[in-house]
Amino acid sequence: MKYRIRNATIQDIEKILVMLRKAHPCDPRYLAMDAREYIKKFMREPYYKTSNHILLFNDEDLVGELLASPDVGYGILKNNSLGLRLNILPEHISTYTITLLLQTVEKIAQEQGFVELQVTLDSEDKLKEFLEAQGFKYDSSGYWMVKEDCTLPVLQNMQGFVVRHIKQDEIFQFYKTVNLAFSTDENWKPYEYEEFAQKYIYPEYVDFNGYFVALDGEKFVGTVVAWAHNSPNAIFPGGEIRALGVLPEYRNKGIGSFLLARALEFLISRRITKFYLGTDSYNTPALAIYRRFGFRVWREHLRYKKRIG
Ligand SMILES: CC(C)(COP(=O)(O)OP(=O)(O)OC[C@H]1O[C@@H](n2cnc3c(N)ncnc32)[C@H](O)[C@@H]1OP(=O)(O)O)[C@@H](O)C(=O)NCCC(=O)NCCS
Repeated sequence: MKYRIRNATIQDIEKILVMLRKAHPCDPRYLAMDAREYIKKFMREPYYKTSNHILLFNDEDLVGELLASPDVGYGILKNNSLGLRLNILPEHISTYTITLLLQTVEKIAQEQGFVELQVTLDSEDKLKEFLEAQGFKYDSSGYWMVKEDCTLPVLQNMQGFVVRHIKQDEIFQFYKTVNLAFSTDENWKPYEYEEFAQKYIYPEYVDFNGYFVALDGEKFVGTVVAWAHNSPNAIFPGGEIRALGVLPEYRNKGIGSFLLARALEFLISRRITKFYLGTDSYNTPALAIYRRFGFRVWREHLRYKKRIG
């Protein structure tokens, strides 16, 4: 079989979407996505460049792709690390096709000053053994967790702290607090304000009534976001919890649990009874809280890393 690679252009989007749906037949993200949404998400400078989106053709058929960006959906990677979205149709997975894509991206990554590649795979993904053969090593897992009941644990009183809705003019302070709370995470960089706004202010499902802050006096010390995806067109119908964070010096006082409870109460008041969130296998404190609240792991993604250069 004759394979060739080239960079993606805007004209390729429909083809790419067809290929992604073939590679992930049940993935709601790609089923619902159209070209406009694709451009907004995956062709946006500065984190996405067409030079970093490589397509694999077999004769005229698009059979694989590799998209390299430090923005991996949940945030921007730290440590000069480049995230890869790698998809090859199963019948075209081979040492040859993988090497072709990875060698190209390694070269690009080095030219752009990146020192590490990261890729996340479903636990059943056939690409696993091929990546290991290319020097990728398992690092950690990302979890999607789900809770399908409305019971909340009994929480102790938080002495001296208050949790309340944010006001519209407090969004910038809220953003700053999210960045400070997540600064201890080894994988994620602080958001630029515009990046934060694209995820947390502009989308049509944003409702600031679901944004809560914890206060020590006047000081913002914790954050949480609850999104109600309850329209029939929602990709995951249910409530999504995001940006649960507490400043390092305020942790282990029950603030995170209190914030999560308020976020879930908000969603329940919007008649939502199924909740989900994403977290990492190394995030022991977060996992402890989520399990206590009745969340269980629904899907696991394996994160592989490779140092380059
Ligand atoms: C996760 C986070 C929000 C928790 O906030 P918090 O105010 O400390 O939370 P709480 O005090 O309510 O609860 C902390 C829980 O973690 C547990 N915990 C803390 N450190 C732990 C550790 N190293 N190992 C195991 N459990 C730990 C505590 O025992 C407690 O669980 P318990 O109530 O069952 O005893 C906070 O650690 C944080 O901001 N982390 C960085 C941002 C982040 O990763 N957010 C989650 C994104 S998915």
